[in-house]
Amino acid sequence: MQSPKAFVLAAHGAKMPAIGFGTMELPHRPAELVAAAIAIGYRHIDTARKYGTEERVGEGIRASGIVRNELFVTTKVTEENAREADFMRSVETSLRALGLDYVDLLLIHWPQPKVPFTETLGALAKAKRSGLTRHVGVSNFTLAMLEEAVSVCPEPLVTNQIEYHAYLPQDRMLAALKRHGMILTAYCPVARGKLLDDPTIGEIAKARGKTHAQICLRWLIQQPMVAAVPRALEEAHIRENLDLFDFALSDEEMRQISALRRRNIRIADPPERAPKWDVETIA
Ligand SMILES: NC(=O)c1ccc[n+]([C@@H]2O[C@H](COP(=O)([O-])OP(=O)(O)OC[C@H]3O[C@@H](n4cnc5c(N)ncnc54)[C@H](OP(=O)(O)O)[C@@H]3O)[C@@H](O)[C@H]2O)c1
Repeated sequence: MQSPKAFVLAAHGAKMPAIGFGTMELPHRPAELVAAAIAIGYRHIDTARKYGTEERVGEGIRASGIVRNELFVTTKVTEENAREADFMRSVETSLRALGLDYVDLLLIHWPQPKVPFTETLGALAKAKRSGLTRHVGVSNFTLAMLEEAVSVCPEPLVTNQIEYHAYLPQDRMLAALKRHGMILTAYCPVARGKLLDDPTIGEIAKARGKTHAQICLRWLIQQPMVAAVPRALEEAHIRENLDLFDFALSDEEMRQISALRRRNIRIADPPERAPKWDVETIA
C-alpha cells in the first residue's frame, strides 16, 4: 500500500502533498485547528486573503513548532487586486499576516476579466522571482483562461484550484492540466457535505469499513495529479480526512463513484466573480 509520502504530487518543481487542510471559514479555534491538523500529519495548508484566516493560520503554524520547509502553504490574491501594484501589495500583506517570508504556492483566486492577463500573470511571476512564493498557479480558471494563462505567464503554473468532487465532472480540465503537467487541486472535495449522504458512497464506505468522507477523498486522490483540500472543524474529521493511505478503491468502485457525475452539482458559484463555466458532457 502506498504511504502518505507517495501522495506528494510533483509539478514543475513543486512538491504538493495530495491532501491539504482547507481554512475557509474556521469560526471557532482557528489557530488551534491548524496546529492540530499539523500535529495529525497535514503538511499542506490552504488559505487565502479573502478568507480572513491568514493571521490565525500563521499562529497555528507557529504553535505547531513545525520546521518551515516541511510545510506547503498556499495563499491567494483576490480578483480586486489584479492590477500589478495592488497584487504585489496583497502578497506582502498576506506574508505579514501569515508571519512567513514566503509561501510555497501563490494563486490568482478568481480571474479578473477587466485586467489583461499579461498584467496579473506577470505580477504573479514577479512574486515568484522576488522570492515571495516558491511556485505559482491559478484558481477558478476556465479551459480558455487556462490556455491563455499558460501562454502569457513567464513562470510555469503548477495548479488550477477548482471545484471538483464526484457530483461535478472535470474531464476536459483534467485533460488540459495533464497536457501542461499541472495538478488539479480540488476544492469542496466532499461537496460541502452533500456527498456524505449519497447511497453509493455509503455502500462503498460500509463494504470497506471507511467513512463516507474517506471514500470521497480517496476517489479524488486516486486519480493522477489530483490533490484535495477538505475543510473540517472537528478533530476526528480532520484526522480521518488524512487517513486515506491504507486502502485503495477498485476500478469498479472508482467507476461507480464517477457515475455520480449525473447529479452535476456546482456549489461555489458567486455571481459577482464566477466566470462562465465550461460545461462537461454528462454521460
Ligand atoms: N479557490 C476557491 O475559490 C475555493 C472555494 C471554496 C473552497 N476553497 C478551499 O477548499 C476548502 C474546502 O472547501 P469547502 O469547505 O467549501 O468544502 P468541503 O471541504 O467539501 O466541505 C466542508 C464541509 O464538509 C464537512 N466535512 C469535512 N470532512 C468531514 C468528515 N470527515 N466527516 C463529516 N463531515 C465532514 C465539514 O463539516 P464540519 O464543518 O462539521 O467539520 C464542512 O461542513 C476551503 O476551506 C478552502 O480552503 C477554495
